[in-house]
This record gives sequence, structure tokens and C-alpha cells, in this order.
Amino acid sequence: MASTIVLTGIKPTGMPHVGNWVGAIRPTVELSHRPDRQGFFFIADYHALTGLRDGAQLRQYSDSLAAAWIALGLDPQRSVLYRQSDIPEVFELAWVLACFSPKGLMNRAHAYKAQIQKNTEEGQEDVDHDVNMGLYTYPLLMAADILLMGATYVPVGRDQQQHVEIARDLAQYFNREYNREIFTLPEALIDESTAVLPGIDGRKMSKSYNNHLPIFESRERIHKLVLRIATDSSRPGDPKDPQASTIFQIYSALSNPDQVQTMAKAYQDGIAWKDAKEMLFQQFENTFAAPNQRYQEFMAHPEALDRIFSQGRDQARQQAAPVMDRVRRAVGVGARNRS
Ligand code: TRP
Repeated sequence: MASTIVLTGIKPTGMPHVGNWVGAIRPTVELSHRPDRQGFFFIADYHALTGLRDGAQLRQYSDSLAAAWIALGLDPQRSVLYRQSDIPEVFELAWVLACFSPKGLMNRAHAYKAQIQKNTEEGQEDVDHDVNMGLYTYPLLMAADILLMGATYVPVGRDQQQHVEIARDLAQYFNREYNREIFTLPEALIDESTAVLPGIDGRKMSKSYNNHLPIFESRERIHKLVLRIATDSSRPGDPKDPQASTIFQIYSALSNPDQVQTMAKAYQDGIAWKDAKEMLFQQFENTFAAPNQRYQEFMAHPEALDRIFSQGRDQARQQAAPVMDRVRRAVGVGARNRS
């Protein structure tokens, strides 16, 4: 595979919701259609283990993320779709990188610092309370994901930018130490245009706030949730400010520019909240009814997912082999006459 590699992973920590689609899944699907890029997209299941201890649940989240990714347009014949846990080299490389990482680099990582700060604020005696080594070394595993596949571009949200920079730093240390280009230097791609999507209570859509709109649910359940979206007390006939409306923002994320304009006009003309909600529900149906059907088929036949995972594993390991070979030779481990 000669073209430039774009790689990203998503952590399977819940059932996919509209916020995940807008922020993570849709951008990768769009990138996957670019002929000048080879996409590597994976389920970061071992990253999820830092906080999730129910095995059946982790497996279900991984399957549903893969099923969602494909149902929403990722073509596994065109991109490499795989599970992180299927690639043993990732974990081998994570150790090598650990040996090159100053401890202070991990101390400065955001996720770890946030936990420390929380502990301090809550008056915990141990600042490292609730920090397992998986959380602490999270950026090392992520650097291994990225460097192993020779990724040039890594599309991520702002919150992950620092992790990509850590990967780049480690790649530089390593290349400098051995005085050759063993790793490609990765670069984060931050899409500034993906606005943060609000949930039904108006705060950022997130599973932890329980304000999310799941994608693969029954019509009835979605309809109920849409009817619950927070609005102000303006009445039918009152002109409404679209920018201040959660309904409008979610609607916009699912709609083309013409539809958005029509909706904005309806707001100026004083559309009733009830009617705006029905329009949003309709748009939800238009967007997700067909993907939902494909998703349900995958979930009913996980063998189909297994075949895709197995193909993705073979392709990803093939991609990883020469990189890992260079690493082993450089550090001086493994068979002498590896071909
Ligand atoms: N840490 C990322 C997140 O929480 C997921 C992830 C794991 C990832 N490995 C990666 C993203 C490698 C990009 C590249 O969103």
C-alpha cells in the first residue's frame, strides 16, 4: 500500500450515539472515500479496558462499533478495519516505546493529569487514587497504534491531540537514537468544523450525561427522546433563534445546507417546538433507518463481523511487519536473519 496512511481508533465504551457519529464515525467515513489516502480504522478495545471490567459488555460494544462503522458507510474492502487486540505487535511495540519514554512525558498527559486534579479537589489522600497503570501509560499504547502502521495523518478530536504529539515525540527520540527513519512522524488532523453536538438537555451530547440520542434504537424510543429535548418557553408563532436551539443544532448535523436553511426560515416564521421536533424526528429517520437495518443484520450475524475482523487483522499485521522488523533489528532483539 503506497498511498499516505490515515489512521484512527475509537474506544468502544458504549452503544453508538449521534454525537459519536458526528464527531468520530462520519469524519472517518468521509476520509475513507479519498483515493489518495489508505485508511486504517480500528476498535481500540484494549484502551477501553482501562475503565471497563465487564467482558461481555466490552465485546458487545466492540461489535456494535464495528457494525455501526460499516452500516454508516465505511467499506471494509476499501479501508482496513480491525480490532486493536488482534494485533500482537501493538503490545510489543508499546513496551519498546515505554523504554524510550521519559516518565515525565506520561505525568504530563491530560487524562492522567485530570484524574490527579480530581483527586486533589476531592481531598483524596492518594493523588493517584483510581489511576491504574493502563490509564497512566495510555499514551504509549496509543503511540504504538499509530507508529506501528506508519500513519502520516491521525484524525482525532481536540482532546486527543496531545496524545498524537506524544507519539510524534517518541518517534523522533527513537529515530534519533538509531539515526535512521524507523518511524514515520505522525500528525494530528483536527477538524475544526465539527462542532460539539448538544444532547437532549442542551449540554454536550455524552453517554456520561445520559443525554444522548442512540442511533440504533426503536422509532418509538427515539421519538420519545426527541420530544424530551429542552426548549425555551416561546410559543407557536413567536420567532425563534435557531442558533440558541438544541433541536436546530441536532437537525443541522443531520441535514444538507438547503434543509438547514428551510429550517432556519421556519424558526423565523415561528414554528411550534412540537413541529420542530417532528421535523427533527423525520430527519433522524431519513438518516438512520437504512443504516439501522444493516446494523441489526450484523448484530444478528456476528460471524460476518468475525470475517471482517479476520481480514482486517491480516492486512494490518502485514502492514505492521516491516515496521516491527526495523524496530527489532535496531534495538537488537529477535532472530538475526529475519527476512
Ligand atoms: N484515545 C482515543 C480516544 O479516546 C482512541 C485511540 C486509541 C486512538 N488509539 C488511537 C485514536 C490511535 C487515534 C489513534 O478517542
